[in-house]
Amino acid sequence: MKLINLVGTRPQFIKAAALSRQLKLNSSIQEIIVHTGQHFDKNMSAVFFDDMMIPKPKYNLQVNSLSHGAMTGRMIEKIEEVLQKENPDFILVYGDTNSTLAGALAAKKLHVKVAHVEAGLRSFDMQMPEETNRILTDRISDILFCPTDTAIKNLEIEGYNNFNCKIVKNGDVMMDVALFYAKISAQKSNIIEQLNLKDFVLATIHRQENTDNLDYLKNIISAFNTIAEKINLVLPLHPRTRAIIEKNNIKTSFKIINPVGYFEILELLKNCKLVITDSGGLQKEAFYFHKHCITVRKQTEWVELVNGGFSCLANSNLESIILAYEKMENKKSDFNVDYFGKGNASEIVVQTLLSY
Ligand code: UD1
Ligand code: UDP
Repeated sequence: MKLINLVGTRPQFIKAAALSRQLKLNSSIQEIIVHTGQHFDKNMSAVFFDDMMIPKPKYNLQVNSLSHGAMTGRMIEKIEEVLQKENPDFILVYGDTNSTLAGALAAKKLHVKVAHVEAGLRSFDMQMPEETNRILTDRISDILFCPTDTAIKNLEIEGYNNFNCKIVKNGDVMMDVALFYAKISAQKSNIIEQLNLKDFVLATIHRQENTDNLDYLKNIISAFNTIAEKINLVLPLHPRTRAIIEKNNIKTSFKIINPVGYFEILELLKNCKLVITDSGGLQKEAFYFHKHCITVRKQTEWVELVNGGFSCLANSNLESIILAYEKMENKKSDFNVDYFGKGNASEIVVQTLLSY
């Protein structure tokens, strides 16, 4: 079997690393990694390939920094060329980015089977580019790998049992690699000593709905400034957010660092007191490392974390984030709950592909 493992963004490198490790164990599958180029800075891309020993992409399509339509369109064209050349049996796409949709669409039109990892998730907010990407990708996928029971239920409600596709609950592929690399991250990274961190909050902000609304971004930064009066706050800063903060001269009084590699983020997660984020991946990783999380979004696809009291939603305003911080700062919870599978999500994907 010939399979294209399609990646483009930071979380996709992490998810593809989980799959790539499993695929290596099966000599009957030929894996070809295709990088759309959506993320391209060294510490947004190459660092993950190095840290997680992901095979070098055979193709890098170098499509990035464009509007949604231009980016998705150019990716479709270039992925189509690769598909015509390689003629694979499957394309594996992850999550909800423009790279995901471009890969699924290019493949479907050429009758290449599409397997979607992280299928069935919904925020029910059609303003989010990710919601459009995930709904359209799900609809044209042949195999939908769902991380949670909620994802399966979402698909049932949308009538997917009447469609010609296979739905599998496999769990979260990010959990597979988080648990694996957490065992070695302390030897690989000394970021905690380097930054001299003791009690600290780990924060990330990059989602378009927060960064493209200047009032929201100012409110969030203002909340971080307030929290940083009480406790250290570290923000590895996504280039999208950095550009807007710099352009608008927004004052920050906490520790800003460049985006970090996978070993560094694992060490930050293991050692922090609390996570504040709008990231999809980080919400789950906080849970894996038994940290409470404030999710700076109107809603989340990972509803189980909110319902279980592990995460708390906060609107993008000062009061809402501070209230959430006060609620979560000293909270105690039993994190031994199985929402996202058993850490064998990528193995289930490979076994399903082999028996399809
Ligand atoms: C994308 C995904 C988002 C995901 C995020 C993961 C879409 C619609 N959005 O958002 O769902 O959560 O990736 O991080 O696909 N940039 C750099 N260097 C880089 C990467 C990006 O400078 O290595 C700049 C780009 O030039 C662009 C901006 O950051 O101006 C945004 O990048 P883009 O890939 O469009 O979207 P993300 O915000 O990264
Ligand atoms: N991450 C990282 N370095 C950073 C910030 C994030 O390695 O400086 C990792 C982290 O493990 C997270 C993943 O990148 O789960 C996802 O990235 P991001 O938050 O950009 O995307 P999302 O999950 O929201 O799509």
